[in-house]
Amino acid sequence: MNICTGKILVFTAVSLLIGITVQASAADRKVVVTEQSFECLHQNQKVRNMYVDNILGNLTGTLAVAKSGMGGVYPPGTVLQLIPAEAMVKREKGASPATNDWEFFALDVSKDGAKIKARGFAEMKSALGGSCLDCHSKAKPQWDMVCEQGHGCDPIVLPGLDVPLLTGAMQKTDPRCASPEPLTLKELAELKRLKELLEKKAAAQAAANGQPAERTTPADTGTAPAVW
Ligand code: HEC
Repeated sequence: MNICTGKILVFTAVSLLIGITVQASAADRKVVVTEQSFECLHQNQKVRNMYVDNILGNLTGTLAVAKSGMGGVYPPGTVLQLIPAEAMVKREKGASPATNDWEFFALDVSKDGAKIKARGFAEMKSALGGSCLDCHSKAKPQWDMVCEQGHGCDPIVLPGLDVPLLTGAMQKTDPRCASPEPLTLKELAELKRLKELLEKKAAAQAAANGQPAERTTPADTGTAPAVW
């Protein structure tokens, strides 16, 4: 073999090695979630009532599952948002078997973007004290813990409030978006009622002598199926 052929062989071997390494790292790439992972809802794609994205760049894979009438397993990097203050992100395979590798997030959103208020897997709770996993795990297996409507989860119940109207109003007024959409009077009134409900809840918790805010027991929720 002359020097030139030798060089070509070495070059081919190195390229192959690099190719294999790149492929392997794409398959088990860690899903690193930062505050930049959560954009203004309207910058993401809307599928039915939720906004979807993929922080590993695999939006095609995420959309394929979201739009499939049969369900499926969402690919790593998937970000789902229904309301601005909460999100779920599909982490790398094996990150959390109990939650199908979903990580749950509570966000503080403002015009400057999202701050991560809390994050976690099976132990994560919502602002009103409900366990994310308790509700989301009721989705039938083919829906990969994504509730939407008709997937088997209990509907979200907030006493005296019209939840679909409320989530629509929250989506329209995501403070991260440059130009929030105008609200109807009904939506405005519903947002005000939610604010009052949250204030009442905070006051009740403060009165309950230092009981941690998150510790809502089933007894507290009365006959409501679950707390959002
Ligand atoms: C009371 C039960 C309940 C709790 C608690 C709850 N969720 Fe949900 N969540 C639902 C239901 C039901 C939907 C579907 C709502 C719809 O589309 O009308 C939903 C929708 C979502 C969606 C849109 C994707 C989907 O599954 O439809 C995200 C994201 C989400 N929730 C995140 C969270 C996070 C994060 C937490 C905890 C911090 C949480 N949820 C707690 C019941 C719950």
